Amino acid sequence: MNGELTATSGSRPVLKNVPSFSELGTTPPVSVSSFELLTSAQCEEIASRYHRSGLAIVQAAAGVSSEKSLLVLAGKLGLGDPFVPPVYAGSASIGQVGLSRMSVSAGPGGESPHPSFQTTNKQDTHTDGTLQRIGEVKTSALLCLGAAASGGETFFFNSAGAYAKLAGEDPAAARALLMPDVLVRSANMPGIDASVSGPAFSILDEGLVTRFSLSSTDTWHVSDDATGTDLLRGIRFLLDLRLQESECYWETVLEPGQAVIFANDRISHGRKSYENTPGSPREILRGLFTKRPEPGGAR
Ligand SMILES: [Fe+2]
Repeated sequence: MNGELTATSGSRPVLKNVPSFSELGTTPPVSVSSFELLTSAQCEEIASRYHRSGLAIVQAAAGVSSEKSLLVLAGKLGLGDPFVPPVYAGSASIGQVGLSRMSVSAGPGGESPHPSFQTTNKQDTHTDGTLQRIGEVKTSALLCLGAAASGGETFFFNSAGAYAKLAGEDPAAARALLMPDVLVRSANMPGIDASVSGPAFSILDEGLVTRFSLSSTDTWHVSDDATGTDLLRGIRFLLDLRLQESECYWETVLEPGQAVIFANDRISHGRKSYENTPGSPREILRGLFTKRPEPGGAR
């Protein structure tokens, strides 16, 4: 399928399922009484926003407690059971029901803290499922149980949208980002030494997918030829759109009772640093899923 983009006829590639962030600044969250009482119409709306914008924010008025709330929400959206990457096997970073808890107060006894989950530091642009193949972890869901005293914004970068723009302006740079081993992502868990190389973007039957990440554990294969300069232009183009907080960027502070369900293989995300108040730390639950919320899917 990548041949569409490698054609030299000058024709624009057809990139399917590219989200747009244009509605995010003006659209309030989907408001529900509780996740347990989600209606079919609300599920349809969440799925529709997911596919249009790459993400949907849901605000529950009451009843958000812990893991069960996120599992119920996922079930009603047809996401199935949480996916647990093999790198987490036997780790205290993942709970019994397959969810991760991100909070500096949630350090498991006897195990080194997770360098991304259990810190107040910023988390740079990335996609979840570091060691999984591109497109495998289709959906991530975050549920906020507690907000920070300050900071902690969750940000989203529309990688697919930015790529589509790049493909229109600089096809050679866009091609370089499709190369099979261009992006090496490494696990950052204590005691785990594993990395996986792959493309930053791929054009699959179902559309454009990405694992675009620019964090401290990601490295890029830059060759010493023209392809290397193509790649550097491509990364620069995307990073500029990210830093300019352009139409491909959006951020929000998740509030208690809010969940965000996003297309992990179409958009990238990260978090700004934060400060906690004693006794009321920022606390987020995360689930990964290999399915998407499909309109009219399982409820
Ligand atoms: Fe993440």
